[in-house]
Amino acid sequence: MKTFDVMGKSRILIGESLKNAEKYISTDNTVIITDHNVRRLYGNLFPNCEVIEIGMGESVKTLDTMNHIYQKLIELGIDRSGFILGIGGGIVCDITGFAASTYLRGIQFGFVSTTLLAQVDASVGGKNGVNVGGYKNMVGTFNQPQFVICDMNLLKTLPPQELSCGFAEIVKHALIADAKMFDYLEINFKEALSLNESVIERLVADSIRIKANIVNQDERESGERRKLNFGHTFGHAVEKTTGVPHGAAVSIGMMMASYLSIRKGFLSKQELKRIECLLLMLKLPTVISTDREKIVDAMKKDKKRTGELIKFVLLDGIGQSLVKEISVTELEEVSCDLCQ
Ligand SMILES: NC(=O)c1ccc[n+]([C@@H]2O[C@H](COP(=O)([O-])OP(=O)(O)OC[C@H]3O[C@@H](n4cnc5c(N)ncnc54)[C@H](O)[C@@H]3O)[C@@H](O)[C@H]2O)c1
Ligand SMILES: [Zn+2]
Repeated sequence: MKTFDVMGKSRILIGESLKNAEKYISTDNTVIITDHNVRRLYGNLFPNCEVIEIGMGESVKTLDTMNHIYQKLIELGIDRSGFILGIGGGIVCDITGFAASTYLRGIQFGFVSTTLLAQVDASVGGKNGVNVGGYKNMVGTFNQPQFVICDMNLLKTLPPQELSCGFAEIVKHALIADAKMFDYLEINFKEALSLNESVIERLVADSIRIKANIVNQDERESGERRKLNFGHTFGHAVEKTTGVPHGAAVSIGMMMASYLSIRKGFLSKQELKRIECLLLMLKLPTVISTDREKIVDAMKKDKKRTGELIKFVLLDGIGQSLVKEISVTELEEVSCDLCQ
């Protein structure tokens, strides 16, 4: 088992099992939050605690769900010494973190992350929250869980599309911060896709190390943490306009950012080819058939935009990144290469 500490408050346990979760909590004052799928698949391995079950999908990440959880916590008599354990993917983690951070002005919490995306991204870094009025993550807090368990065995039941979302973030971490991890992915992509235990454990550990390192420098996203948005500015616009899964959208977004990096003289065409090949080997798309005007329009509405310029994360070769301001006109020109 590998462990990492985030902000000196949160311990990430990679390779620990859900069935050992009981060791990290006191069962008499812990409440589990999970979703229907995860409970059906793994409920028999849960610690012996009260369970609050939520529905599935982005539409449950709301204040209504939060209200339901607060009511349940009150009914169960949970006081300041209580603990909430979220067992699930990114949605369960975001909801658990927000519920625990606000109930009685904050009680302690932990996660068992059950999707690849939650293990490499959502459960690390202390951001939590819910959607309001159709806008993503509008209300939330920065607050670190006590611990995060990443149990690789749970990944075997994930549908391919959910795995792809995790792989897109894994490639992102390698591209922005670790050229050796990128080489390792190129060599071991088949084992990664088949969830070979040592390969997937190493990729999850490398991803968490990179994200934890960045968050430790900049918890509240004033500088360094922006790099974690690599592929996401264009990616979010693609996701919004086409409805493709997050991983596919981020893959297209990373291609876009790579084209821009070439244009700015930071990346070579040969490096772009390697990035494209790796994404394809991991079954992620590199082009999209859609109306490029719509994507550029969505990007113009990006909340991180200031005037004509958008803050964009670019690659300074594979394994290094930097943030530059890019004009909307330039983005329009580059998007021609991606939209077919
Ligand atoms: N807080 C952050 O820093 C952060 C970062 C990235 C993403 N997120 C959030 O994470 C959410 C997406 O997370 P996600 O992709 O994990 O989605 P998710 O939580 O919806 O899980 C995806 C699906 O997989 C199912 N599932 C979970 N574990 C399973 C398993 N082991 N086997 C089979 N099925 C399983 C779930 O029931 C669900 O239907 C988004 O809301 C996003 O905003 C947050
Ligand atoms: Zn993402």
